[in-house]
Amino acid sequence: MTARIYVPADAAAVALGADDVAAAIGRHAAGHAVEIIRTGSRGLFWLEPMIEVATPAGRIAYGPVAPEDVAGLVAAGLLHGGDHPLRLGAPEAIPFLARQTRLTFGRCGVVDPASAADYRAHGGGVGLERALELGPEGIVEAVVQSGLRGRGGAGFPTGIKWRTVAAAQAPQKYIVCNADEGDSGTYADRMIMEGDPFVLIEGMVIAGIAVGASRGYVYLRSEYPHAAVAFGRALEAARRDGLLGTRIGGSAHDFDIELRMGAGAYVCGEETALLDSIEGKRGQVRAKPPLPAHHGLFGRPTVINNVISLASVPFILAEGPETYRDFGMGRSRGTMPIQLAGNVRFGGLFETGFGMTLGELVDEIGGGTASGRPVRAVQVGGPLGAYFPRALFDTPFDYEAFAAAGGLIGHGGVVVFDDTVDLRAQARFAMEFCAIESCGKCTPCRIGSTRGVEVIDRMGAGDGPAQETLLRDLCETMKFGSLCALGGFAPYPVLSALDHFPEDFGLKSPLAVAE
Ligand SMILES: Cc1cc2nc3c(=O)[nH]c(=O)nc-3n(C[C@H](O)[C@H](O)[C@H](O)COP(=O)(O)O)c2cc1C
Ligand code: SF4
Repeated sequence: MTARIYVPADAAAVALGADDVAAAIGRHAAGHAVEIIRTGSRGLFWLEPMIEVATPAGRIAYGPVAPEDVAGLVAAGLLHGGDHPLRLGAPEAIPFLARQTRLTFGRCGVVDPASAADYRAHGGGVGLERALELGPEGIVEAVVQSGLRGRGGAGFPTGIKWRTVAAAQAPQKYIVCNADEGDSGTYADRMIMEGDPFVLIEGMVIAGIAVGASRGYVYLRSEYPHAAVAFGRALEAARRDGLLGTRIGGSAHDFDIELRMGAGAYVCGEETALLDSIEGKRGQVRAKPPLPAHHGLFGRPTVINNVISLASVPFILAEGPETYRDFGMGRSRGTMPIQLAGNVRFGGLFETGFGMTLGELVDEIGGGTASGRPVRAVQVGGPLGAYFPRALFDTPFDYEAFAAAGGLIGHGGVVVFDDTVDLRAQARFAMEFCAIESCGKCTPCRIGSTRGVEVIDRMGAGDGPAQETLLRDLCETMKFGSLCALGGFAPYPVLSALDHFPEDFGLKSPLAVAE
């Protein structure tokens, strides 16, 4: 019988040597009947390259595997799940995976991302079948009922957005998938596009049927070449399979998708700058209204959603909106793929229902810092997210709870810092990042960010108390005067650093800040 060995081709696993491991398996198992299947990653990055072998009792994982381990592994009976110091057992039983609720990432790291047949063999396509039964209004209603909110950062209800586009009258409408994934410490979009691209394609097809759009665009960041290859291959396979094309599933609906690469600007992740970029212009933020839902790509009604928002839809349709809505807390329904990064022991993707506290995520799931030093601060939500001190670790992962604590969950990136971090330097970085990435359209962001760097530098030169009021005033102006969230949210990391770590700015105590 042919042994099946699964080796991730995910960019993170490849960076850690997965291609060399696959080649070594090919060499050392040359005399045996072996099929090597390249998958996505399960998202347990400290164990990558993590390989799996199919056995009658299910898959057995080994990791982290180096090419020089392969000869010993094969000798120890790798092809039958044999014992070895790198043997991890059933992947689903590894605590980091066992504690997750994988609704959107259920197939990631499991299936062959180049094979539409494998996708269907693992439950893919059922959401689309259900969507065709429900029809446009029924789909929109199901997405509204699921409580799904945009996973790109703003948390806007996805079903409401779709309803607006569905109601718009136009000869052509578009579905645009935002795969720019510019936030620091985030990689969930990339993992889906490399590990389970058909789920995104299916989500976009369902969105197209729901609102009456026959054409979709995926806007992918240029730093993701592996994702571009994996997704391009999946698009071709989807056309052969009938998931894309004319009369989808025997219905009257046509849909196809084009992949577009960005040129590398953070602001092009902002939805209107992204539309300009697809249209071939310089990516600059558009004033709203009109909303993209009314006047979007090429002036037509357009749904713009993040990769994870769209990839969550097939599950919602297949299993029913109630099943999805049952996970989560408050107005944050369903699951969130939380991405643990930075100085963390167990870095990786952790999909769970909303509600787990930041402390549980960082200390229990993430295992604290990789350096072994105490955790001092955690930045959540990308470069424009707030820094949380340990005192706020009881904050549940929930849109409203994070907003109440002066932060945002953004795209679910959690970047951990140990006690060697200088929060003044981090605040300066936030202002500098904003200055570099500003599209230049509005003054508070274009000028304010540069002034912010200067003020923070003066605080670093010993002028903390005198400059504090100025920095707070500046943040106020940027927060309320900026046209988009780049300038509007840059104050979050700055003010949270100032409020929770005043000593790094040469300020005496938190009490001095409160006055
Ligand atoms: C400066 C800036 C950068 C952004 N970058 C991204 C991004 O990389 N990916 C993303 O999905 N949304 C990003 N957004 C949010 C988008 O503007 C928009 O809210 C999102 O694509 C809508 O999709 P959703 O409702 O599914 O989240 C960014 C917003 C701003 C202001
Ligand atoms: S806040 Fe910054 S990025 Fe946004 S529109 Fe204004 S200048 Fe452009």
